[in-house]
Amino acid sequence: MDIVYTVAALRARLKTESSIGFVPTMGSLHAGHIDLMRIARERVGAEACVVVSIFVNRLQFGPKEDFGKYPRTLVNDCEKCRMAGVDVVFAPDESEMYPEPQGYVVEPPEIQHMLEGAVRPGHYRGVVTVVLKLFNMVQPHVAVFGKKDYQQCRVLDNMVRQFNLPVELLLAETVRVDDGLALSSRNGYLAPTEREEAPQLVAALRAIGSALHAGERDFVALETHAFGTLKARGWQPDYVAIRRQRDLLPPAPADNALVVLAAARIGATRLIDNLEVSIQAPPFF
Ligand code: PAJ
Repeated sequence: MDIVYTVAALRARLKTESSIGFVPTMGSLHAGHIDLMRIARERVGAEACVVVSIFVNRLQFGPKEDFGKYPRTLVNDCEKCRMAGVDVVFAPDESEMYPEPQGYVVEPPEIQHMLEGAVRPGHYRGVVTVVLKLFNMVQPHVAVFGKKDYQQCRVLDNMVRQFNLPVELLLAETVRVDDGLALSSRNGYLAPTEREEAPQLVAALRAIGSALHAGERDFVALETHAFGTLKARGWQPDYVAIRRQRDLLPPAPADNALVVLAAARIGATRLIDNLEVSIQAPPFF
């Protein structure tokens, strides 16, 4: 496995590769990230090249967010990539990614202002801008992203489509601990009692999922109830929202490809999660 730190070294390394699978990350790698690498390899084949980028992107963090304390574990991460059969780790520093202030940015449409975007203004502008830069640097044929960040998947999918980028996106299922908690680099911030409580976030989503499957269609009542349940348990929820999978807009009662998304703080740690709920159309009599 090669570890490269500059765009020039990356381009030189990838020049002769005819098929490239790419997994962009911010490091602090866990089994969810490793699964994306497995999916990339599976898609491009043993002979092709799998590239992982590790870069904590300041542009997507708000001024009061955890950019400074975001875990940076490059040596460990590279070892995990090596074990996962990755060919190239690209780990630029800030001066390599942003040698000058990033004056040109990609401004996503309205979707950037809802849900996560409403709580984290500018977040998706930062995400799509760095992902476009990474795509230009790596020039992958396939790139893999996790549905754990559902809105990020939608925003990136739109960008790839609207800019006709020559890359195929694969969206991977969320990898969870046995108790349901979605793996996240931020789980390491949780105190032991918070860690014990943390699976209640997905439990709230699953309760909504069951109600939807049982035929409940009062979306606002379901959202409000789950929000209140989390609050009563000591969480500070930002949102619990039932949306359409395809564009994350509020659904009509007849919509059946739904996703329930939530973000909530437990102590000082903010967790996000979501659950796709695809409702079978009722049998027609
Ligand atoms: P990061 O949070 O490091 O996540 C990298 C990729 O791993 C993303 O596609 C994310 O959705 C996926 N991922 C995280 N937790 C997962 C889990 N439990 N199961 C499956 N996949 C999971 O997302 C980012 O970095 C950044 O925004 C980035 C796209 C790299 C741009 O800076």
